[in-house]
Amino acid sequence: MTPTKQAPSAERAPIALDVSSLRKEYRVRGAGRHVTLTAVDDVSFQIRPGETLALVGESGSGKSTIARCVTRLVEPTAGSVHIDGKPIIGISARQLSASYSDLQMVFQDPTSSLDPRMTVAATLDEPLRLHTRLDKEGRRARVAQLLADVELDESYLDRRPRQLSGGQRQRLSIARALAAEPKVILLDEPTASLDVSVRGQIIRLLKRLQVEHGLAYLFISHDLGVVRQMSDRVMVMYLGGIVEQGSTEEVFENPVHPYTKALLSAAPVVEYGREHDRLRLTGEIPSPMKVPAGCRLVGRCPIAEAACALKRPDLMLVTETHAVACPVSAPDAAPVLAVPVP
Ligand SMILES: Nc1ncnc2c1ncn2[C@@H]1O[C@H](COP(=O)(O)OP(=O)(O)OP(=O)(O)O)[C@@H](O)[C@H]1O
Ligand code: SF4
Ligand SMILES: [Mg+2]
Repeated sequence: MTPTKQAPSAERAPIALDVSSLRKEYRVRGAGRHVTLTAVDDVSFQIRPGETLALVGESGSGKSTIARCVTRLVEPTAGSVHIDGKPIIGISARQLSASYSDLQMVFQDPTSSLDPRMTVAATLDEPLRLHTRLDKEGRRARVAQLLADVELDESYLDRRPRQLSGGQRQRLSIARALAAEPKVILLDEPTASLDVSVRGQIIRLLKRLQVEHGLAYLFISHDLGVVRQMSDRVMVMYLGGIVEQGSTEEVFENPVHPYTKALLSAAPVVEYGREHDRLRLTGEIPSPMKVPAGCRLVGRCPIAEAACALKRPDLMLVTETHAVACPVSAPDAAPVLAVPVP
C-alpha cells in the first residue's frame, strides 16, 4: 500500500531546496559567430522536505539545465542555491563536497550514472566510503539495507549493471542516491526509459522512499500522467522561463497561461484525467538564440495583444499559491517576486 503523505506544516523543517534568480547562459556558435543562449532565465523556487515539485515543458525549455546548475554539473551564470540553508554556489570544491551528500541526482538512463565494471555491492559501497564514517561491517549492513529499501534482494550483490533489467538498474541508481542520506533528490525523467508496468513500480517506490526519508524531490518529466500522480506542485517552463506555477490540482484543473493550456491540450486526456478547452499554439518553438524580447510566447500565442511584444510579463498571483506570467489571461492578478510555498 502506498503510504500517505503528511500535509506540509509550519513545524516541519523550513525549506530543503531554495533556488533564487537562477540564470544559465551558454556561449554557442550561431550564424558563423558566437552568441549567448540563455537556457535558464531568472528562475526561483523552493521545495519543502517531503514535497515533490514537478518541472514540465517542451524539449529544450531548460529543465535539465536547472538540475545541472543545482548540482553544479554546470556552473550557473547567476543566482543562488541553498540546500537546507547551506549555499551550493560560490563555495570551494571542499565545502561543496561536504554539502554534496545532501543533494543527489537520478537520471533517465541509469547506465550513464553506473560504472559498468562495478558490482552492485561496490556501487553502493563507494558513496558510503566517501560520505560516511562507517567501517567495513557497518557499510556491509548499510548496503544490505539500501538494497532492501529499493526492494532488491542480496542475490544481486555480485551482479554488474549489464546483468540487471532496466527497472533493476534504476532501483540501483536510486539506492546509490540514497546512500549518503540526502535531503534533496533531483529526478530527471527517471521513468522515461522504462516500460509502463515498471514505471508504475518505480513511481510507487519513489513515493514510499520520500515518505520514509522525508525527501524533497525536483521531478522533471514529459509524462503529465506521472506528474499528476507524483507531484504536490508544478512549474511550467517555456524557453528558459517559468510561465506558470501552482499546486498540481490548480495547474491541471485550472491552467491559466496559454502555454500550459496548450501543453495540457496536446497530452492524451487519459494521461492526466481531465479534458480542457483545446488550445493550440501556432508555429514552432523559436530557436533559444532568438527568444522574443517581450513575452516569450508572443509569436505563437493565439490571444497575444500588441503590448505582449514590448515587455516580458512577471509572474503574478491568481491565488495564494498559483502564479502565472500572462497579464492578458490574468488581468487582475498581482505581480509577485517569489511564489509563496504552501
Ligand atoms: N552544454 C550546452 N551548450 C550549449 N547549449 C546547451 C548546452 N546544454 C543545453 N543547452 C541548450 O540549453 C537549452 C535547454 O536545454 P535543456 O537540456 O536544459 O532542456 P530540457 O528542458 O531538459 O529538454 P529535454 O526535455 O529535451 O530534456 C537548449 O536550447 C539546449 O540546446
Ligand atoms: S503575455 Fe501575451 S503573448 Fe504572452 S502568453 Fe499572455 S497573451 Fe500570450
Ligand atoms: Mg532534459
